[in-house]
Amino acid sequence: MCGIVGYVGPQNALDVVLEGLRRLEYRGYDSAGVAVLADGGQATAKKAGKLANLEKALADSPLPESTIGIGHTRWATHGGPTDRNAHPHLSADGKVAVIHNGIIENFAALRAECETAGVEFASETDTEVTAHLLAATYDATPEGPGRLAEAMRAVSRRLEGAFTLVASHADEPDTLVASRRNSPLVVGVGDGDGEYFLGSDVAAFIAHTREARELGQDQVVEIDRNRGLTVTDFGGTVVEPTAYTVNWDAAAAEKGGHDWFMLKEIAEQPQAVADTLLGRLGDDGRLVLDEVRLTDQDLRDIDKVFVVSCGTSYHAGLIAKYAIEHWTRIPVEVEVASEFRYRDPVLDRSTLVVVISQSGETMDTLMALRHAKDQKARVLAICNVNGSTIPRESDAVLYTHAGPEIAVASTKSFLAQIVACYLVGLFLAQIRGIKYTDEVAAIVEDIRGLPQAVEQVLTQMEPVRELGRSLADADTILFLGRHVGFPVALEGALKLKELAYIHAEGFAAGELKHGPIALIDQGTPVVVVVPSPRSRESVHGKVVSNIQEVRARGARTIVIAEEGDDDVLPYADHVIRVPRTPTLLAPIVTTVPLQVLACEIADTRGYDVDQPRNLAKSVTVE
Ligand code: F6R
Repeated sequence: MCGIVGYVGPQNALDVVLEGLRRLEYRGYDSAGVAVLADGGQATAKKAGKLANLEKALADSPLPESTIGIGHTRWATHGGPTDRNAHPHLSADGKVAVIHNGIIENFAALRAECETAGVEFASETDTEVTAHLLAATYDATPEGPGRLAEAMRAVSRRLEGAFTLVASHADEPDTLVASRRNSPLVVGVGDGDGEYFLGSDVAAFIAHTREARELGQDQVVEIDRNRGLTVTDFGGTVVEPTAYTVNWDAAAAEKGGHDWFMLKEIAEQPQAVADTLLGRLGDDGRLVLDEVRLTDQDLRDIDKVFVVSCGTSYHAGLIAKYAIEHWTRIPVEVEVASEFRYRDPVLDRSTLVVVISQSGETMDTLMALRHAKDQKARVLAICNVNGSTIPRESDAVLYTHAGPEIAVASTKSFLAQIVACYLVGLFLAQIRGIKYTDEVAAIVEDIRGLPQAVEQVLTQMEPVRELGRSLADADTILFLGRHVGFPVALEGALKLKELAYIHAEGFAAGELKHGPIALIDQGTPVVVVVPSPRSRESVHGKVVSNIQEVRARGARTIVIAEEGDDDVLPYADHVIRVPRTPTLLAPIVTTVPLQVLACEIADTRGYDVDQPRNLAKSVTVE
């Protein structure tokens, strides 16, 4: 995710940039770094860890005074969280400094090209390649105004993936340039002449100005102290950026204008899903998971999969079971990590243990991982935090790219974990050449549409919030689902328990008649996750019958159903619509209203949504 700050103006750039980084630290805290233009060159400082480490380093060795500079706070993707992988990255001649947010998918090919030209790389990042390319392209661009911007456009046209880049050049002491595709960038316009700010979001500069310019997709902005601000597309055609005035206060700005980080993170889910897919679905429909460091033979030898995790990550594992078994025909067992190693599971070299952890530090999951490795199983981590303990100790890792999750309750990382599980299942199917080839090819196309489907769900959440307010006094709320809807029901109940402190339980809808139906009383709210009418073996019809059963016993039924599914209407007190989605992918859309519902109920009850009582974001005890 990463935070980006840039400044040109009359003030001391370092002060402004550090203040901006403090406001953006929530976007990543693996490392921080700054570069200012001074005395005809770049002066830089960068440090692994939180911003405080950089501030201490700067106090010990101050940089020269300057009125133009850039700064970065990192959420590591390519290359671990170390000093040398910290941004800014410099070109080999030391003249260009670059900071970056995003993922450059074709960096390996570009890096090889630079290495062939004799460049020695100083880091393992995807970003560094852009510093070298910018320096070389700048040298090949005719002298004159706009030279650095021209070089930035030429480099941007060569990049694939998602990026916001901000760069400065030692030979252009009054200029910053920035470029964006699929990553955020806003420009702040100061009160005085020639004062401009760049930020990943407005929180970076809100203490200085509320006048902002929004950049469009595939655009480059040049900020020149004397010539002002010019925005072009990647081809060089001048475009008018959208001007707006920010009316949030600083605290709201950090939360993107939302009341809670959790709401911001729910809103970021389309991006989290898109970023987790980025570069992993090839144009030919094949999956590209180069970072999974297990050989094809290792993957072919697997005859059993365990998925081991805790809490919300465990629910992602339950969904993984349906998908991986269906696509690969390999048996999958799912287990909470705190139980796994104590029951002596049967593991050997042909067992793949997939451990799922947002934080990468959960002790239960870590101990399960170590147990699996002791038994010679191969361990693949699905993790959101680069360089954390769980991926470091695993044989292979597939990172989710959800960005930092601040709210204790997991939302966007859950959706990203499910997507990563789909990728693992499809990758195993691809390597093993299983019989569902056509189905797998079709599902890859459906997966590409998921970010948009989540976006669509998010536009329809106002009635869900209203419903949440009406449920705030409930004593108990039950959640039902079948097939992949069952883990979604469990997740809906968990979210409600942890945020709103209301008794909630999730059930497999078919189990209802075996006991839990006795809980239903007049007015008991029951949320039912309804599968698609196109799902196999009439699961849909069975769930519709379950809705009737609970309603007949007095339940207030809240039904999450696909658009166009009218079979539920006679039995639903409330219907929440989600877009048509293939059965196995449905959790990506059906989970979202349950997150919003829990958040709204907790907020109405007056609780701290971001930091629920008794909980911690990273549980490092067993
Ligand atoms: C619930 C929640 C927790 C975590 C669990 C595992 O909203 O966030 O249940 O999912 O503590 O944490 P990670 O994924 O970091 O291992």
